Formats: sequence, C-alpha cells, structure tokens
Amino acid sequence: MSGRNSYYITTPIYYVNDKPHIGHAYTTLACDVLARFKRMDGFDVHFLTGTDEHGQKVEKAAEKAGVAPIEFTNAVSQNFRDLAARMNYSNDDFIRTTEERHKKATQALWNKLVEKGDIYLGAYEGWYAVRDEAFYTETELTKGPDGKLIAPSGAEVDWVEEPSYFFRLSAWQDRLLQFYEDNPGFIKPESRRNEVISFVKGGLKDLSVSRTTFKWGVPVPNDDDHIMYVWLDALTNYLTAVGYPDQECESFKKFWPADLHMVGKDILRFHAVYWPAFLMAADLPVTGRVFAHGWWTNEGQKISKSVGNVIDPLQLVDEYGLDQVRYFLLREVPFGNDGDFSHNAMVSRMNNDLANDIGNLCQRVLSMVYKNCDKRIPEPGTFTEEDQALLDAAKAMLPTVRGHMDNQAFHRALECIWAVISDANRYVDAQAPWALRKTDFARMETVLYVLADTIRRLALICLPVMPESCSKMLDLLQIPEDDRSFESMDKALASNTELTKPAGIFPRFVAPEEGEGA
Ligand code: MSP
Repeated sequence: MSGRNSYYITTPIYYVNDKPHIGHAYTTLACDVLARFKRMDGFDVHFLTGTDEHGQKVEKAAEKAGVAPIEFTNAVSQNFRDLAARMNYSNDDFIRTTEERHKKATQALWNKLVEKGDIYLGAYEGWYAVRDEAFYTETELTKGPDGKLIAPSGAEVDWVEEPSYFFRLSAWQDRLLQFYEDNPGFIKPESRRNEVISFVKGGLKDLSVSRTTFKWGVPVPNDDDHIMYVWLDALTNYLTAVGYPDQECESFKKFWPADLHMVGKDILRFHAVYWPAFLMAADLPVTGRVFAHGWWTNEGQKISKSVGNVIDPLQLVDEYGLDQVRYFLLREVPFGNDGDFSHNAMVSRMNNDLANDIGNLCQRVLSMVYKNCDKRIPEPGTFTEEDQALLDAAKAMLPTVRGHMDNQAFHRALECIWAVISDANRYVDAQAPWALRKTDFARMETVLYVLADTIRRLALICLPVMPESCSKMLDLLQIPEDDRSFESMDKALASNTELTKPAGIFPRFVAPEEGEGA
C-alpha cells in the first residue's frame, strides 16, 4: 500500500504433487527481485513462499508413491526449499499448509464466513478437474482427442455428486465489480483485468467450498465429514503467515493487506475473484495487487510431462550459471507475456548482454584502474560535458527503474539499465583512456573515475536481479556493506580506495564438450 514503509509480497504456494519446474522458479524469482529491490529501497519487506499440500491431487500422488500423504509432502516440500536456496531467493518465511498455524487460520476464516452468513450447506453436482482442483460448468468443457470431456486448461474432468458447503459467491458479484472499478491497479496486466471483469459480469455461481469424498485437507469446523476445498485452504496461507487470526499482532498490523500476490495467468481467477470475495466477506482489507505473469514454452513447444520437455531450473543453473538464468528469465520476455525458452536465446543473452556489455565494461575499466592508477580509485579532475552526461544518465536510472519495478515491468527496468551500459561502453571508446595514459594522465584518471562510479551504480541497481555477480562487482570496488542500498546511490565513489585484482565476473558460455578439452 502506498504511504507505508512495509511491503508484503507473496508467491503462489506450490502443489507438492511433483518436483519444481521452470514455472515455479519464475514466479518466485520475480518476487525475489521485487523483495530485494524494495529492501534496498528502505522498505520493511515480508516475502512469503511455500507449499500447498492438501487436496485430491496430492492425496493421489502420495497414494501412487505408496506412502502416507504427510510423508510424501514432507519430501516434496523440501524440494521447493532446496530450490529456493539454490536460486538464492531471499524469502522471509516458507509456509506449509500442513502446519498447525495454518489449520488454525483457515478454520478461523471459515468460522468468520459462517458467522457472516456467507457459507451454507447444500449439495454439489457438477464437473471437477482434479489436476486444476477446480469446478467447471458444462459450457466451459470441450471433447478431448479421446472423446473425454476436458476443461479449458486441458485437464480431464470427473462428474461429482456430494453434500457440500457453499460460499455465497453470487452475492459478491456487484461488490467485486465495484471493487475493480475503485481499484484499477488491483489486477495487472490490463488485458487480464478486462478478462476477469468480463468473467464476473458473465455471472457468478456460489462456490463449493468443501469435499466429502477424500480426507486430505483441513477439517471443516464442527462437521467431520467435510474437509475444506483446497483453494479456500490455500489462499488463506497469505493471512496465516502474518499471524491471522490474531489481527492485533505486530506482523498482521504491519503487513496486512499484502501489497502483491504474484501468480501465473492460470490461477488468476482464484486470486482476483474468489480471494477478494472471501476477504471482503470476512471484513478484511483486500490485497493491493494481483499480477498474472505469462507461461514459458520450451523451444517453441508447450511444456508438458507427457511430452517430456519439462525444464528443470536446477539443470539450467548448472548449465548457464545462476545469475545468468535469473537475468535471462526477466529480460527475455516482457513480464506478463508468454515467453519461449531456447538454448540459443539463453546463450545470446549470456554472451552479449552479460559477458560483452556489462562484463567487458567492468573488466576493462577495473583492469585499467588497477594497472595504471596504483591499484586505487583515482582522483577525478573537473568533469567535462561528456563526463557529466554519463554521470547524469547513471543517476537518472534509479527513479526510472523504480517506476518500472513498481509496475512489475522487469524487462523495461533492465532495458533502461542496459541503455546506460551502452552509454558507458560508447564513452570508453570515445574517451579512449588507454590513449590518454600517454597524452594526458590526469584526464585518464577522470575518465576512469567516471566509469568506476558508473559501474558502482550499475552494480547496485542490478543487485536484486543478479545478487551474486553484483556483490562481486561491489567487492571489487571495495564498496562497504553499509553503502549497498539505494540510499547510498548518490554517495560518490571514494577516491584512493585500494582495489583487489579484478577478476572476470560474467563468463561466456562454454559448451560442455569444448569445456572438457580446455
Ligand atoms: N497450488 C496452486 C497455487 C495456490 S496459491 C494460493 C498452484 N500451484 S502450482 O504448483 O501448480 O503453481 C504453479 C505456479 O507456476 C503458477 O503460478 C503457474 O502459473 C506457474 N507455472 C506453471 N507452469 C508454468 C510455465 N510453463 N511457465 C510459467 N509459469 C508456470 O497453482
């Protein structure tokens, strides 16, 4: 929320029916970059991720593996924690829906909805897709290749008939539409907002929120035959993690309502229709924004287990490097659009944007400083117009990038940063400090100073995206830990600081077979 100094950002909590893939890594990465950016910008950040462990899909997966659901979820949930560590995610909490704190929060929310008259007992008859854990109407279904009915997502549906509690979603239609109108920034991107609005305008039916045909879930209070619908359970995680039902605790007061729920486009409806309705019904303030990002394909093909082209993020990191993958995922595709992962595109970003553009800039400038300036950051003389132009461009980056980050436009933020990298590279070529070394040493010192300070700003602003590499850049420049926030952005580089020997930070891609011989 604007005007406050806290920032609460969440990823979806991931189903534990399978191991993590690129989609999971992508959603969490986007949140990680925003969380890191906001922390550097002075915000008190709470960044939450975790696992969604209940529901029929997980129960079935455990059964298939021949183990008890909890044993199964313990193991798979750990894979997501491991992914977070390997991807260098800076999450402040990792929630599991099988935790006691979550059961307590979910049951409290349920009781509140019952108390408000928004939950009633009825019977459900209709189509259900276990893969999506979602109900579908007949009109949404089509015939699949084998003649079976399938949901718009491609998931198979089953006919379900059982007693069920319902949430009075139909009663929230007008209030939801009013909410969207009053809060135009609630759903992003804009095209997704329009989709949601027309879905809601099309009419909302009451939502079945309990199941009786399996057991793996949070029990409905006072009715042991029912467990809660997994989406009601799952969405509540965002409240659990900040202390709900205790609305007076410090974390709840500081962080609720959340600022941003980051989700993939496939789960927007749950977050932008059901969730605000649940929250309003429970008299709770609604999250500031739900952003729906697009989906990745692999070399032009839809990713699917049956095709066998699922992308393992850990494998990508092993092959191309962690920061290279982090950069690629956020730079390659306008955030919000679908995108294609290809080896060639990855290598091109790695070699061009990273090794050539920023890597070479850093390497050649710092080596020149190291060799020619007695290993110290030189003292600058008076700045020329060209010097000032580069310094100004570097200074102007932060407000622009901040604006893009606040709009979740990572690609634009990176474009803007890379424009300054190009300016800096052009400036090196035009100023030719290697020639000045012989003709005008003092001028060479000024040029190298301007460049080193620009590199400092670049390293700081890229730190949220490439924390490891940019920390190394800042280490090379001997920037103290305390000066690694945006507050210190305008604190010019100290002359005379002694540098350590520069080392390359952004390697070029080496194909495995070339690597072996080398
Ligand atoms: N458990 C629910 C979310 C509950 S949140 C209260 C869920 N889990 S999931 O494991 O299926 O979530 C996956 C996340 O990964 C979603 O945001 C989804 O959009 C994203 N992706 C899955 N495949 C993807 C791609 N191929 N590309 C990009 N993201 C994709 O849904």
